[in-house]
Amino acid sequence: LAQGFADDLLTTLCLATDAPIAIAPAMNRLMWANPATQANIATLRSRGILVFGPGEGDQACGETGPGRMLEPLQIAELAMAALSPGPLLEGARVLITAGPTRERIDPVRFISNRSSGKMGFAVARAARAAGAEVTLISGPVALDTPPGVRRIDVESAEQMHRAVQDALAGTDIFIAAAAVADYRSPAPAAQKIKKTDTSLELKLERAPDILASVAADARRPRLVVGFAAETERVAEHARAKLVDKGLDMIVANEVGEKLAFDTDDNALLVLWEGGSQEIARGPKQRIARELVGLIAEHYGRRGQARG
Ligand code: PMT
Repeated sequence: LAQGFADDLLTTLCLATDAPIAIAPAMNRLMWANPATQANIATLRSRGILVFGPGEGDQACGETGPGRMLEPLQIAELAMAALSPGPLLEGARVLITAGPTRERIDPVRFISNRSSGKMGFAVARAARAAGAEVTLISGPVALDTPPGVRRIDVESAEQMHRAVQDALAGTDIFIAAAAVADYRSPAPAAQKIKKTDTSLELKLERAPDILASVAADARRPRLVVGFAAETERVAEHARAKLVDKGLDMIVANEVGEKLAFDTDDNALLVLWEGGSQEIARGPKQRIARELVGLIAEHYGRRGQARG
């Protein structure tokens, strides 16, 4: 595992998954104490692999000491505790936006961006796994709906705005992972724009800011979480958005040609008033689980603060 070999079914699966991995070592006490073994274990731990045990006691070789596999029941209990997020958000109603929006220019053209929806869908899956009732409002993407999640498909920022407004009542947590257009055409052409001149000027107007409108709404959810896609001075720009839009939390990611948009992995910097936490680069499914853990923590704290 430490070397990344994939020469049998188990190691192949371990290399080809973005699911969490835990190991329960079992070996002779000297083998376990050997620096080679310990260095491999340290490598695995540094990659986020969980190590259950080993225990101490009688060994199959007749010796006694550390290296004995934990009892199967202990392994099962540790796995249950460590690998399932648990019902951290049991009963919470979570509304999530994901994917890009498309702003029409004429019947065959639109302005959009490279968002694939993978980040927002991973957050929806993780929130559902944490026991939440999840509604996912998605722009045009090529992704399957996570099991147990209610999905509403939209195309433009205006449609996403309306769908969010319609679903807002009773929402406890709003998470805006969508890459919504900032500008749109005020009057898309009814017919295909003809190529007549050597250049074409497009007039654009501001699209509705969905996230800011939710944060200012009388039905404001207990926790409003935005994303910030930044190409430079990530923390600084994200913190400005946290304040300007009146958010409880902002999830910043550095974006670029090969970063965050339409990739399978990402790295996050989560900011809130008076604090921050990094979520190390990894598959979107994993970092979404960590993010949902953090969101659940803040959600719980706000609940307590309100009594
Ligand atoms: O979909 P993927 O390919 O997986 O890529 C993931 C992602 C990079 C799109 C995602 O992680 C991300 O960063 N989403 C937010 C993208 C974005 O629009 O960021 P922004 O900094 O421009 O906007 C700030 C916040 O305001 C966002 O929460 C956004 O949803 C919201 N917003 C923006 C404009 C607008 N008109 N309405 C909004 O609600």
